[in-house]
Amino acid sequence: MSKLRGDYKSVWNSLSGSKRDAYLVVSGYTDEEKFHADAEDTIDILRETVGVRPDDIFLEIGCGVGRVGRVLSPFVKQWIGCDVSANMLRLAGRRLLGLPNIRLQEVSGYDLQPIADASVDVVYTTVVFMHLEEWDRYNYILEAKRVLKPGGRFYCDNVDIASPAGWAVFEESRLGFKPQERPAQISKCSSQPEIQAFLTHAGFAEVHVAGRLNFWVYGWGTKPGA
Ligand SMILES: C[S@@+](CC[C@H](N)C(=O)[O-])C[C@H]1O[C@@H](n2cnc3c(N)ncnc32)[C@H](O)[C@@H]1O
Repeated sequence: MSKLRGDYKSVWNSLSGSKRDAYLVVSGYTDEEKFHADAEDTIDILRETVGVRPDDIFLEIGCGVGRVGRVLSPFVKQWIGCDVSANMLRLAGRRLLGLPNIRLQEVSGYDLQPIADASVDVVYTTVVFMHLEEWDRYNYILEAKRVLKPGGRFYCDNVDIASPAGWAVFEESRLGFKPQERPAQISKCSSQPEIQAFLTHAGFAEVHVAGRLNFWVYGWGTKPGA
């Protein structure tokens, strides 16, 4: 029987039973060098938006096998990788072995419950929102605000339905599967107004939303009260 999209733990554990499957579902390839290069691109975007500072505690929602954490952790005080899938976290643990400032945390799929209020400087999530229901995207934005310190920064991204390549993703999914046969993790796009609305309703200040490479929408903001 097909799984429900919102049953994230079951869906993502079943997609990451082997290292190869996990790497493929995270990125579409298994090449470690490409992983590294792509992670550097992600970190460049974080530097341009929320900034990366040596005394920052960073938290990633949906960290997968630690693609970003492995490259980012030397530049920050602590990197906390949260994921719904115990399989992903096990693989992340192996990839990040020996890095001194790493914490891996399994979460329910709907919140950041094990993380204390006002304890983190930056929360980010990348290549994850397309796999979540809209309500769960927003719930994670609210959770990010809870765990951020006053003045803390938040970043998120998704495929932009208003971009040419984003529209192609939409059409590929629409035409590629019969309605009853859509995979639970199938990508669903966002738009700049959606990300703007979520960040604004969650109470972030200095909200910015932008498009990139005719494919991505990304947004970032600051928790007020510093
Ligand atoms: C496409 S991978 C991206 C991984 C990582 N962010 C990266 O860029 O390399 C999506 C990740 O999100 C995780 N995930 C999916 N639904 C989730 C949820 N509801 N809560 C937390 N993590 C989730 C999956 O287990 C998977 O590791």
